[in-house]
Amino acid sequence: MSTYGSFPGSRPRRLRTNPVLRRMVAETRLHPSDLILPAFVREGISEPVPISAMPGVVQHTRDTLRKAAVEACAAGVSGIMLFGVPEDAKKDGAGTAGTDPDGILQVAIRDVKAEVGDELVIMSDLCLDEYTDHGHCGVLDADGRVDNDATLERYAEMAQVQADAGVHVVGPSGMMDGQVGVVRDALDTIGKEDVSILAYTVKYSSAFYGPFREAVGSSLHGDRKTYQQDPANVRESLRELALDLEEGADMVMVKPAGPYLDVLAKIADAVDVPVAAYQISGEYAMVEAAAEKGWIDRDKAILETLTGIRRAGAKMILTYWATEVARGL
Ligand code: PBG
Repeated sequence: MSTYGSFPGSRPRRLRTNPVLRRMVAETRLHPSDLILPAFVREGISEPVPISAMPGVVQHTRDTLRKAAVEACAAGVSGIMLFGVPEDAKKDGAGTAGTDPDGILQVAIRDVKAEVGDELVIMSDLCLDEYTDHGHCGVLDADGRVDNDATLERYAEMAQVQADAGVHVVGPSGMMDGQVGVVRDALDTIGKEDVSILAYTVKYSSAFYGPFREAVGSSLHGDRKTYQQDPANVRESLRELALDLEEGADMVMVKPAGPYLDVLAKIADAVDVPVAAYQISGEYAMVEAAAEKGWIDRDKAILETLTGIRRAGAKMILTYWATEVARGL
């Protein structure tokens, strides 16, 4: 075939000759139904509040959240992942607002359900950090450490109030050991066998969550390194995966997405359940910031990041661009 110094015998460029040919041979395709929109809803506001580190993303009022859900639905997006932001005064050590049937997340689930019914898969973040005054994903013990087993009891209650509000899928994201099993039991106990679990199976302790902390008004001091994973590890993710499957995860997620595509590929190879990836706040912010400076082509960069995540093995992608991208596809 091709000999060094003569003309090439093989010409891969042939299949890149024109756009329709390139499209025909494309191995990865994005489809609106692969996309899930994460959305924030804040209690006690009458206008949406922009999130400065995430241009284009807001903390919704109950009303604008309903509109966002309708728009996502119309664009063909499959799901919406809801995050509740309670009034500051309602945050406490136990994250009580997270298990209040009238807490903001539960109210939002009911609102969205009333608006779009089963046209959109309604998902909820199942974690305490939005509701605790210390900002951790769990409750603390006497020494100020995150108490795994006491936290599990809180998660069980959260799962039940979210399910009662009508959520289709809960997303336990706190990285406590045993969380998937406890949540499954809690749901089954109240007859919610049909509520699915999207497990945040692989969740790294990441600097790229920065803008999210603003989005949910988190008051975290310190870090989450005693429960979220060390970015240096990949074998550990396979262990987390095995445990979550054993405990009853219906779908598994890798988070963040972009800096962890190798992990995503390994997880996708290893399972027969649907795999999701979460393109997180910092990934969003980086593209928006560079685009604003005129350093990259925003729309192309967005599609490239999402294509990369699909190519690495994610079936579903949680992205703050979900509605916009779905409209354009
Ligand atoms: C935990 C949770 C976080 C995110 C989603 N769920 C924050 C964290 O674990 O520190 C981050 C999402 C993002 O950055 O876009 N409730």
